[in-house]
Amino acid sequence: MAPDEFQYFATLLEKHAGIVLEAGKEYLVEARLRPVARDGGFASVGALLQDLRQNPMGRAHWLAIEALTTNETSFFRDEHPFNALRDVILPELIARRATTRTLNIWCGAASTGQEPYSLAMLLRDSFPQLLGWTLSFIATDISEATLARAREGRFNTTEIGRGLPAFFRQRYFIPDGEGLRVRDEIRRTVAFRAMNLVGPWPNMPELDLVLLRNVLIYFNIETKRNILQKIHRHLRPDGCLLLGATESTLHIEQSYEVVHLERTAYYRARHPAANAVSLGINWAV
Ligand SMILES: C[S@@+](CC[C@H](N)C(=O)[O-])C[C@H]1O[C@@H](n2cnc3c(N)ncnc32)[C@H](O)[C@@H]1O
Repeated sequence: MAPDEFQYFATLLEKHAGIVLEAGKEYLVEARLRPVARDGGFASVGALLQDLRQNPMGRAHWLAIEALTTNETSFFRDEHPFNALRDVILPELIARRATTRTLNIWCGAASTGQEPYSLAMLLRDSFPQLLGWTLSFIATDISEATLARAREGRFNTTEIGRGLPAFFRQRYFIPDGEGLRVRDEIRRTVAFRAMNLVGPWPNMPELDLVLLRNVLIYFNIETKRNILQKIHRHLRPDGCLLLGATESTLHIEQSYEVVHLERTAYYRARHPAANAVSLGINWAV
């Protein structure tokens, strides 16, 4: 791949999806774009890139961008955040919402659905009282192809073998061909929709719980900061943000407090001291 072709595509990807392509990733672009070029009837990746360069931003560009997303995920990924959700974060949130009986959850990089479905199963299993609540659970991703898979809720045996405990498999999945499908009662809990983290966030409600895991790693520091600031504006004063195991707000955005738990951590919006007192929030956790 010629340097100017790589440069063109890296700029396109960062501008429209925030994803940074480091130098030396030509092989990755070539490999990911090969099927896109073939499906589009182009003789080579070079021919596809030339076509993209000559045309205004459109569907073909988005298909190429989507091909460069990394959709790696698994059920109950990293385990500890889900234990913390079950044992600490959700019990506290639910207690604080006992009067309004509403809970707004957003999973901001849902990929093929394992993460939001893990949380939906956990909610159903550990907090059956929420059945009488108004629960909004939105799961978004930039990739239409992964969202289509997530909506279907069908998983092959390899995917099922990655992190799904037998108990949840037996309780919340039904046989489906060679694999399994999430039961409708769980599938219907989650509303999947396309949303670009670096674009507008239409109809985003005030949020109690945000999972934005293993996606900030792909962005530059400015993009990370912008996204964290946007979440801050949507997060309720006592809402919680979970990031991936290698991600943090530290040295990026100062408007969050980290709350350390036994084997994981989560973030809360930092507020002026007076505000915290009036909200009855104990920051000393
Ligand atoms: C590595 S997966 C993480 C999935 C899941 N959160 C987890 O931790 O297992 C990253 C996801 O972020 C999505 N993504 C990348 N850039 C995005 C953007 N600008 N807006 C929304 N989603 C994006 C990708 O499509 C991909 O599905």
